[in-house]
Amino acid sequence: MEIKVKIKRYDPLQAESYFQEFSVNEPETASVSSILTKLNEREPLFDTEGRKAKKIDWECSCSQKMCGACAMIINGVPGLACAAFLKDFFKEEQKNPVLQLEPLSKFPVVRDLRVNRSQMYQDMKKMKIWLNNSAIVSEKESEAQYESAGCIMCGCCLEVCTNYSLENTFVGAAVMNGAYRVATQQKQGSNRKQFIKENVKNGQGHCSKSLSCEKVCPVNIPIGALTSKMNRLYIKGLFFK
Ligand code: SF4
Ligand code: SF4
Ligand code: FES
Repeated sequence: MEIKVKIKRYDPLQAESYFQEFSVNEPETASVSSILTKLNEREPLFDTEGRKAKKIDWECSCSQKMCGACAMIINGVPGLACAAFLKDFFKEEQKNPVLQLEPLSKFPVVRDLRVNRSQMYQDMKKMKIWLNNSAIVSEKESEAQYESAGCIMCGCCLEVCTNYSLENTFVGAAVMNGAYRVATQQKQGSNRKQFIKENVKNGQGHCSKSLSCEKVCPVNIPIGALTSKMNRLYIKGLFFK
């Protein structure tokens, strides 16, 4: 399949980002990450206008939907490059297919498709999401705990969340997942009071429950169900015990 790959490029030494196009010929089973890898193997790398291009900067680690590093915007929708395939976007007979790749827009761009996701980890600290006792999980809770722990902190959910931005205090679904686990694991602990305070201030109450986050989550975290469970804890006052 002949396709054009249109990549949003950014060099911190230049003021503006710009799009650059490359031609590739790949089967419909090719993943976006394999296409980026192959482009970077070209020596030299030329764009469709015959200009020599710099290697494309992007992040990748596990290549199997486990680390979240390769999250980017793929044809307008956030997703994982290692789990997105040409056949997901194009039919074999499609004329002039274009695969457009952009960095996630809710985080500062480091270079090209690589972003700095550290805000999520800072938010986890801000929300006091840690246990200082051994975890105690009831049998009833264990399934939801397990589902919530599948979050790979890719940040795709934050991309589509209208209530999340680096300027707002709302921490978004990625961090709320972690909050859910702590809220339902530990009833005691020296950080619990602060944890509850931060949750009230920056968590749950700011979510408008549109659940666009759940639709794009590449590992199908049941964000809506976990959010409802947290709400029940608030309403019943159990969270504050
Ligand atoms: S909830 Fe899903 S989309 Fe959000 S960070 Fe976790 S894995 Fe990624
Ligand atoms: S339900 Fe809507 S507001 Fe709440 S975290 Fe998801 S996208 Fe954001
Ligand atoms: S490289 Fe780890 S999720 Fe894609």
